[in-house]
Amino acid sequence: MNISVDLSGKRALVTGAGSGIGRGCAETLAAAGASVIIADMQEEAAREVASAIEKDGGKATALRLDVTDWDDARRAAEAQEQAGGLHILVNCAATWKIGPFIETDNAEIMSGLGVTLVGTLVPSRALLPVIIASGGGTIVNISSDAGRIGERSQVVYSAAKAGVIGFTKALAKEVGRNGVRVNCIAPGLTRTPSSEAFLEQMRVEDIRRAYPLGRVGEPGDIANAVLYMASELSGWVTGQILSVSGGYSTAG
Ligand SMILES: NC(=O)c1ccc[n+]([C@@H]2O[C@H](COP(=O)([O-])OP(=O)(O)OC[C@H]3O[C@@H](n4cnc5c(N)ncnc54)[C@H](O)[C@@H]3O)[C@@H](O)[C@H]2O)c1
Repeated sequence: MNISVDLSGKRALVTGAGSGIGRGCAETLAAAGASVIIADMQEEAAREVASAIEKDGGKATALRLDVTDWDDARRAAEAQEQAGGLHILVNCAATWKIGPFIETDNAEIMSGLGVTLVGTLVPSRALLPVIIASGGGTIVNISSDAGRIGERSQVVYSAAKAGVIGFTKALAKEVGRNGVRVNCIAPGLTRTPSSEAFLEQMRVEDIRRAYPLGRVGEPGDIANAVLYMASELSGWVTGQILSVSGGYSTAG
Protein backbone atom coordinates (compact mmCIF):
# COMPACT_ATOMS: atom_id res chain seq x y z
CA MET A 1 0.00 0.00 0.00
CA ASN A 2 1.32 3.42 -0.92
CA ILE A 3 -0.22 6.40 0.88
CA SER A 4 0.76 9.99 0.21
CA VAL A 5 -0.81 13.27 1.24
CA ASP A 6 -1.32 15.53 -1.75
CA LEU A 7 -2.41 19.09 -1.02
CA SER A 8 -1.56 20.47 -4.44
CA GLY A 9 -4.19 22.96 -5.58
CA LYS A 10 -4.97 23.81 -1.92
CA ARG A 11 -4.24 27.18 -0.38
CA ALA A 12 -3.30 27.33 3.31
CA LEU A 13 -2.78 30.27 5.67
CA VAL A 14 -0.76 29.73 8.86
CA THR A 15 -0.72 32.45 11.53
CA GLY A 16 2.43 32.82 13.60
CA ALA A 17 4.30 31.06 10.79
CA GLY A 18 7.37 33.26 11.16
CA SER A 19 8.77 31.02 13.93
CA GLY A 20 8.73 27.68 15.71
CA ILE A 21 5.68 25.44 15.36
CA GLY A 22 3.92 27.73 12.86
CA ARG A 23 6.99 27.64 10.66
CA GLY A 24 7.12 23.84 10.93
CA CYS A 25 3.42 23.61 9.95
CA ALA A 26 3.96 25.91 6.95
CA GLU A 27 6.96 23.89 5.77
CA THR A 28 5.09 20.58 6.08
CA LEU A 29 1.95 21.84 4.30
CA ALA A 30 4.14 23.25 1.51
CA ALA A 31 6.03 19.94 1.25
CA ALA A 32 2.64 18.26 0.73
CA GLY A 33 2.02 20.61 -2.20
CA ALA A 34 -0.13 23.36 -0.69
CA SER A 35 0.44 26.99 -1.55
CA VAL A 36 1.08 28.52 1.88
CA ILE A 37 0.58 32.06 3.16
CA ILE A 38 3.09 32.76 5.92
CA ALA A 39 1.17 35.17 8.15
CA ASP A 40 2.96 36.82 11.03
CA MET A 41 3.13 40.23 12.66
CA GLN A 42 6.89 40.05 12.19
CA GLU A 43 6.98 40.72 8.47
CA GLU A 44 10.70 40.11 8.10
CA ALA A 45 10.44 36.67 9.72
CA ALA A 46 7.47 35.81 7.47
CA ARG A 47 9.47 36.79 4.38
CA GLU A 48 12.44 34.71 5.49
CA VAL A 49 10.25 31.60 5.98
CA ALA A 50 8.48 32.12 2.63
CA SER A 51 11.76 32.43 0.75
CA ALA A 52 13.22 29.33 2.49
CA ILE A 53 10.14 27.33 1.40
CA GLU A 54 10.42 28.64 -2.15
CA LYS A 55 14.11 27.74 -2.24
CA ASP A 56 13.09 24.19 -1.34
CA GLY A 57 10.71 24.12 -4.32
CA GLY A 58 7.49 24.90 -2.38
CA LYS A 59 4.95 27.67 -2.91
CA ALA A 60 4.78 30.37 -0.24
CA THR A 61 4.01 34.07 0.17
CA ALA A 62 4.56 36.28 3.20
CA LEU A 63 1.77 38.32 4.76
CA ARG A 64 2.04 40.81 7.62
CA LEU A 65 -0.91 40.03 9.89
CA ASP A 66 -1.62 40.98 13.48
CA VAL A 67 -4.13 38.30 14.55
CA THR A 68 -5.74 40.64 17.07
CA ASP A 69 -6.53 43.28 14.46
CA TRP A 70 -9.94 42.99 12.82
CA ASP A 71 -9.00 45.27 9.90
CA ASP A 72 -5.81 43.32 9.23
CA ALA A 73 -7.81 40.08 9.20
CA ARG A 74 -10.43 41.56 6.84
CA ARG A 75 -7.66 42.70 4.48
CA ALA A 76 -6.13 39.21 4.61
CA ALA A 77 -9.52 37.72 3.70
CA GLU A 78 -9.94 40.08 0.73
CA ALA A 79 -6.43 39.23 -0.48
CA GLN A 80 -7.17 35.47 -0.31
CA GLU A 81 -10.46 35.95 -2.16
CA GLN A 82 -8.60 37.68 -4.98
CA ALA A 83 -5.68 35.23 -5.00
CA GLY A 84 -7.80 32.08 -5.50
CA GLY A 85 -9.53 31.32 -2.20
CA LEU A 86 -8.51 29.46 0.94
CA HIS A 87 -8.90 25.81 1.99
CA ILE A 88 -6.80 25.46 5.16
CA LEU A 89 -6.39 27.85 8.09
CA VAL A 90 -3.95 27.03 10.89
CA ASN A 91 -4.30 29.36 13.89
CA CYS A 92 -0.91 29.14 15.57
CA ALA A 93 0.05 32.64 16.79
CA ALA A 94 0.10 32.99 20.58
CA THR A 95 2.05 34.53 23.43
CA TRP A 96 2.66 33.34 26.96
CA LYS A 97 4.31 34.41 30.17
CA ILE A 98 5.37 32.15 32.98
CA GLY A 99 4.81 33.32 36.56
CA PRO A 100 2.40 33.23 39.51
CA PHE A 101 -1.13 34.45 38.67
CA ILE A 102 -1.13 36.58 41.84
CA GLU A 103 1.62 38.73 40.31
CA THR A 104 -0.11 39.10 36.91
CA ASP A 105 -1.27 42.59 35.99
CA ASN A 106 -4.25 43.64 33.89
CA ALA A 107 -2.15 44.33 30.80
CA GLU A 108 -0.73 40.79 30.89
CA ILE A 109 -4.21 39.28 31.25
CA MET A 110 -5.56 41.34 28.34
CA SER A 111 -2.62 40.70 26.03
CA GLY A 112 -2.44 36.98 26.93
CA LEU A 113 -6.13 36.43 26.18
CA GLY A 114 -5.95 38.91 23.30
CA VAL A 115 -3.29 37.22 21.20
CA THR A 116 -3.89 33.61 22.19
CA LEU A 117 -7.71 33.44 22.29
CA VAL A 118 -9.05 36.51 20.46
CA GLY A 119 -6.24 36.06 17.93
CA THR A 120 -7.68 32.65 17.07
CA LEU A 121 -11.27 33.87 16.72
CA VAL A 122 -10.60 37.02 14.65
CA PRO A 123 -8.75 35.40 11.70
CA SER A 124 -11.25 32.50 11.78
CA ARG A 125 -14.20 34.90 11.59
CA ALA A 126 -12.64 36.91 8.76
CA LEU A 127 -11.47 33.92 6.69
CA LEU A 128 -14.38 31.51 7.23
CA PRO A 129 -16.54 33.02 4.43
CA VAL A 130 -13.59 32.67 2.05
CA ILE A 131 -13.12 29.00 3.04
CA ILE A 132 -16.85 28.31 2.53
CA ALA A 133 -16.83 30.12 -0.83
CA SER A 134 -13.80 28.02 -1.84
CA GLY A 135 -15.88 24.85 -1.51
CA GLY A 136 -15.11 24.13 2.15
CA GLY A 137 -11.94 23.20 3.98
CA THR A 138 -10.39 22.83 7.39
CA ILE A 139 -9.45 25.01 10.33
CA VAL A 140 -6.77 23.66 12.68
CA ASN A 141 -6.36 25.54 15.95
CA ILE A 142 -3.21 25.14 18.00
CA SER A 143 -4.13 24.90 21.66
CA SER A 144 -1.89 23.31 24.29
CA ASP A 145 -1.99 20.58 26.90
CA ALA A 146 -2.09 23.57 29.29
CA GLY A 147 -5.60 24.26 27.96
CA ARG A 148 -6.69 20.65 28.55
CA ILE A 149 -5.32 20.02 32.02
CA GLY A 150 -4.17 23.44 33.34
CA GLU A 151 -0.55 24.32 34.06
CA ARG A 152 0.66 26.09 37.20
CA SER A 153 2.42 29.42 36.50
CA GLN A 154 0.61 29.56 33.14
CA VAL A 155 -2.87 30.47 34.38
CA VAL A 156 -3.78 33.12 31.78
CA TYR A 157 -2.32 30.99 29.00
CA SER A 158 -4.20 27.88 30.22
CA ALA A 159 -7.45 29.88 30.28
CA ALA A 160 -6.86 31.20 26.75
CA LYS A 161 -5.97 27.76 25.39
CA ALA A 162 -9.04 26.20 27.08
CA GLY A 163 -11.03 28.89 25.26
CA VAL A 164 -9.47 27.77 21.97
CA ILE A 165 -10.74 24.23 22.72
CA GLY A 166 -14.29 25.48 23.39
CA PHE A 167 -14.16 27.57 20.23
CA THR A 168 -13.06 24.53 18.20
CA LYS A 169 -15.92 22.34 19.42
CA ALA A 170 -18.60 25.01 19.00
CA LEU A 171 -17.48 26.18 15.55
CA ALA A 172 -17.22 22.57 14.33
CA LYS A 173 -20.91 22.07 15.18
CA GLU A 174 -21.86 25.27 13.39
CA VAL A 175 -19.96 24.91 10.10
CA GLY A 176 -19.87 21.16 9.42
CA ARG A 177 -22.82 21.52 7.04
CA ASN A 178 -20.83 24.17 5.15
CA GLY A 179 -18.11 21.63 4.41
CA VAL A 180 -15.72 23.03 7.00
CA ARG A 181 -14.04 20.80 9.60
CA VAL A 182 -12.57 22.41 12.72
CA ASN A 183 -10.07 20.57 14.89
CA CYS A 184 -7.47 21.34 17.48
CA ILE A 185 -3.95 20.14 18.21
CA ALA A 186 -2.77 20.40 21.83
CA PRO A 187 1.04 20.24 21.87
CA GLY A 188 3.13 19.46 24.89
CA LEU A 189 6.47 21.18 25.48
CA THR A 190 8.06 21.65 22.06
CA ARG A 191 11.51 22.98 21.20
CA THR A 192 11.05 26.45 19.62
CA PRO A 193 12.71 29.86 20.06
CA SER A 194 10.08 30.70 22.72
CA SER A 195 10.58 27.57 24.81
CA GLU A 196 14.39 27.36 24.54
CA ALA A 197 15.12 29.30 27.76
CA PHE A 198 12.59 27.26 29.74
CA LEU A 199 13.97 24.01 28.31
CA GLU A 200 17.50 24.92 29.34
CA GLN A 201 16.40 24.91 33.00
CA MET A 202 14.91 21.43 32.76
CA ARG A 203 16.89 18.37 33.81
CA VAL A 204 17.00 15.37 31.50
CA GLU A 205 15.57 13.12 34.24
CA ASP A 206 12.61 15.48 34.74
CA ILE A 207 11.82 15.31 31.02
CA ARG A 208 12.07 11.51 31.07
CA ARG A 209 9.73 11.33 34.07
CA ALA A 210 7.13 13.75 32.65
CA TYR A 211 7.13 12.48 29.07
CA PRO A 212 6.47 8.73 28.63
CA LEU A 213 8.21 8.90 25.24
CA GLY A 214 11.28 10.35 26.95
CA ARG A 215 11.72 13.59 25.03
CA VAL A 216 10.09 16.95 24.35
CA GLY A 217 8.54 17.70 20.97
CA GLU A 218 10.00 19.17 17.82
CA PRO A 219 7.98 21.47 15.50
CA GLY A 220 7.80 18.61 12.97
CA ASP A 221 5.93 16.42 15.50
CA ILE A 222 3.17 19.03 15.71
CA ALA A 223 3.25 19.76 11.97
CA ASN A 224 2.59 16.08 11.14
CA ALA A 225 -0.55 16.14 13.29
CA VAL A 226 -1.64 19.39 11.63
CA LEU A 227 -1.10 17.76 8.24
CA TYR A 228 -3.43 14.92 9.29
CA MET A 229 -6.13 17.35 10.44
CA ALA A 230 -5.71 19.55 7.35
CA SER A 231 -5.94 16.71 4.86
CA GLU A 232 -8.63 14.24 3.80
CA LEU A 233 -6.96 11.61 5.99
CA SER A 234 -9.14 13.11 8.74
CA GLY A 235 -12.16 13.57 6.47
CA TRP A 236 -14.61 12.29 9.10
CA VAL A 237 -13.02 14.07 12.08
CA THR A 238 -14.30 17.37 13.40
CA GLY A 239 -14.54 19.15 16.75
CA GLN A 240 -11.71 17.02 18.18
CA ILE A 241 -8.71 17.81 20.34
CA LEU A 242 -5.57 15.78 19.67
CA SER A 243 -2.85 15.93 22.30
CA VAL A 244 0.57 15.66 20.64
CA SER A 245 2.79 15.56 23.68
CA GLY A 246 4.71 12.31 23.97
CA GLY A 247 2.08 11.09 26.43
CA TYR A 248 2.49 14.02 28.87
CA SER A 249 -1.24 14.31 29.52
CA THR A 250 -2.78 10.88 29.40
CA ALA A 251 -5.83 12.04 31.36
CA GLY A 252 -8.06 15.12 31.26
N1 LIG B 1 6.59 25.67 22.18
C1 LIG B 1 5.86 24.97 23.03
O1 LIG B 1 6.37 24.32 23.94
C2 LIG B 1 4.35 24.94 22.87
C3 LIG B 1 3.61 24.04 23.66
C4 LIG B 1 2.24 24.00 23.53
C5 LIG B 1 1.61 24.85 22.62
N2 LIG B 1 2.35 25.72 21.89
C6 LIG B 1 1.62 26.60 20.96
O2 LIG B 1 2.19 26.50 19.67
C7 LIG B 1 2.08 27.75 19.01
C8 LIG B 1 3.44 28.21 18.50
O3 LIG B 1 4.34 28.28 19.59
P1 LIG B 1 5.91 28.51 19.34
O4 LIG B 1 6.60 27.95 20.51
O5 LIG B 1 6.25 28.04 17.99
O6 LIG B 1 6.00 30.10 19.43
P2 LIG B 1 7.00 31.14 18.71
O7 LIG B 1 7.08 32.28 19.67
O8 LIG B 1 8.25 30.47 18.25
O9 LIG B 1 6.17 31.62 17.44
C9 LIG B 1 5.03 32.40 17.62
C10 LIG B 1 4.87 33.29 16.39
O10 LIG B 1 3.64 34.01 16.56
C11 LIG B 1 3.86 35.34 16.13
N3 LIG B 1 2.90 36.24 16.76
C12 LIG B 1 2.84 36.63 18.06
N4 LIG B 1 1.85 37.51 18.23
C13 LIG B 1 1.25 37.68 17.01
C14 LIG B 1 0.18 38.47 16.55
N5 LIG B 1 -0.50 39.30 17.37
N6 LIG B 1 -0.17 38.39 15.25
C15 LIG B 1 0.53 37.57 14.39
N7 LIG B 1 1.57 36.83 14.77
C16 LIG B 1 1.93 36.88 16.08
C17 LIG B 1 5.28 35.65 16.54
O11 LIG B 1 5.78 36.75 15.77
C18 LIG B 1 5.98 34.33 16.25
O12 LIG B 1 6.50 34.31 14.93
C19 LIG B 1 1.42 28.70 19.99
O13 LIG B 1 0.03 28.69 19.79
C20 LIG B 1 1.76 28.06 21.32
O14 LIG B 1 0.86 28.44 22.33
C21 LIG B 1 3.70 25.80 21.99
